Amino acid sequence: MPIAKGSGALFVVFEGPDGSGKTTQTMLLRDALQKAGHAVLATREPGGTSIGEQIRTVVHAVENGSMLPLTEALLYSAARAQLVGEVIRPALAEGRFVISDRYAYSTIAYQGEGRGLDRHMLQQLTRWATQDLVPDVVVYLDLDVQEGLRRKQQALDQGGEINRMDQQTVDFYRSVRNSYLQMAREDADRWLVVEACQPVEAIHARVLSHLSELCERRRRRVQGG
Ligand code: TMP
Repeated sequence: MPIAKGSGALFVVFEGPDGSGKTTQTMLLRDALQKAGHAVLATREPGGTSIGEQIRTVVHAVENGSMLPLTEALLYSAARAQLVGEVIRPALAEGRFVISDRYAYSTIAYQGEGRGLDRHMLQQLTRWATQDLVPDVVVYLDLDVQEGLRRKQQALDQGGEINRMDQQTVDFYRSVRNSYLQMAREDADRWLVVEACQPVEAIHARVLSHLSELCERRRRRVQGG
């Protein structure tokens, strides 16, 4: 079922480990929505603004190995504050679909469970940085940790760029995955967990059908008063 025009825009976030296909799915969804005549903005974290891209360079630079977890959390949050204020809120106000490759859940997973920072503090920081902007849907592309590392290595072997966050232990990535799965359980109405080892097209179809059901439910609610 296509996503009907006039059914209201959504804010959709893709989360998951490196190699799970977030970027591919972000682009496929953007293209499908545009083809159906919707106005769409696709963005990514950290980045998506000039200031955010500068922060990305600092936070990911391999030579910044001495960066403290707290600094890391603040930098990701600063980039997010800029992205939300400069790009995401204005786009939503114009009625555009917004798709983001990562959002605040990455901070809870990587800096919280991964780095061991206090989850409650990070939630407060995140709410402040986003001014309480929560997406309509979080698509979590779930991938076995070893498979994620294998895909990452393959990307590096093919000339992909290494960043500071790629240099963590297997336990770190296990904690990150557990944190994502916990968030998905705690907020099950918002999260869609999809097995990332499926073919790209199957994942894309699952996401589209989920969004189209959501839009249809919304439309019925609005019509029903
Ligand atoms: P990517 O854009 O290539 O996926 O790289 C982003 C990296 O940054 C990835 O390792 C996850 C990490 N990250 C955090 O640790 N916290 C965050 O809040 C965000 C947005 C990303």
